[in-house]
Amino acid sequence: MIDKKTDAYSLEIGVSDEVKELIDERIEQQPKVEKSARREILRVDNLKMYFPVTKGLFKRTVGYVKAVDDVSFRINQGETLGIVGESGSGKSTIGNCVMRNYKITGGHMMFDGLELESQTPKQMRSVHKKLTMVTQDPYASLDPRKTVSDIILEGPTIHKMYSSKGEARDIVGQMLELVGLNPKFAERFPHEFSGGQRQRISIARALALEPSFIVCDEIVSALDVSIQAQIVSLMMKVQQELGLTYIFIGHDLSVVRHISNQVAVMYLGKIMELTDSDELYNRPMHPYTQALISAAPIPNPTADRARERILLDGEVPSPINPPKGCNFCTRCRFADERCRQEEPEMIDVGNHHLVACHRVAGN
Ligand SMILES: Nc1ncnc2c1ncn2[C@@H]1O[C@H](COP(=O)(O)OP(=O)(O)OP(=O)(O)O)[C@@H](O)[C@H]1O
Ligand code: SF4
Ligand SMILES: [Mg+2]
Repeated sequence: MIDKKTDAYSLEIGVSDEVKELIDERIEQQPKVEKSARREILRVDNLKMYFPVTKGLFKRTVGYVKAVDDVSFRINQGETLGIVGESGSGKSTIGNCVMRNYKITGGHMMFDGLELESQTPKQMRSVHKKLTMVTQDPYASLDPRKTVSDIILEGPTIHKMYSSKGEARDIVGQMLELVGLNPKFAERFPHEFSGGQRQRISIARALALEPSFIVCDEIVSALDVSIQAQIVSLMMKVQQELGLTYIFIGHDLSVVRHISNQVAVMYLGKIMELTDSDELYNRPMHPYTQALISAAPIPNPTADRARERILLDGEVPSPINPPKGCNFCTRCRFADERCRQEEPEMIDVGNHHLVACHRVAGN
């Protein structure tokens, strides 16, 4: 039985010279680009993912869950797009569409020059070496019967990335060190680790594939606040060192803002606002973003008490039957007749700031 409190110190370690060398090697492999000239690595245009709702013995389709409805965004290499929104707003569905875990209903997705929706399952297997996903639950996502070593080697084995047991051991050791865990514990099982350590193992498994892009779906949401900060720092460190690109999905705007270059605010399958993370936080324009930001705690207790909190009344409507007009109109304090009839278009208000709201559009 392991004492998880004290064991954390013996499990988590710094980075050795060998891993530093590995990092240098990977950096060498990354195309060198100035920040100002970073190239687009993922482009998603008008993505739609509707899940059929079926009824009866013959599973007749009686409607659709519009989980993602006309979503567009771009991500540059080495940068992070944060996606925030309440539960059920379609965040994970976007991640799963990009991974091609679903057959999308509509839209286009270009990843590193490849049209994702037209790749065959076999072609997608090689895309998945570069484009991978780390999911929400470190408890459910690690097979309890496999050792940490077996878990980390899942991808490298499929993609034949090593040719001897020694090379396999090196991969496991390097990956554990990279995520700050002691390589000595490679033969342990997932239940012997704390939640934060398991999340590090999930990250090591993803990194073992040498990906260029990781979809991080709520990877810190199940963890204590202090552990969340450690994992976010780890992701930022690894991103900087290896030049990775992320989609970082989360509930907590303050966590997402910290790691993201730009943030998309989702509501009922649609992006309501999309801009650079500081711009979003300093100048939120959509009434939904304003409500989310007003609800987030701020560290200064006096300022926290003094500011206005915008309460969101009511439930999120069903994505099977979204409101006519603006999706947010049933909960928006500014909603008027036009909002209930006409869907607002996404407009660019300047400074790379996109908002879908009639009130902001002002016409
Ligand atoms: N495979 C599926 N079949 C049918 N409906 C689905 C499926 N996956 C998701 N949905 C529905 O699509 C909507 C969006 O779900 P999604 O999981 O993307 O939300 P989310 O924003 O990730 O929520 P959470 O924050 O709870 O993880 C929800 O209404 C959900 O019930
Ligand atoms: S379009 Fe209307 S209902 Fe929608 S967010 Fe703007 S003001 Fe609110
Ligand atoms: Mg989700």
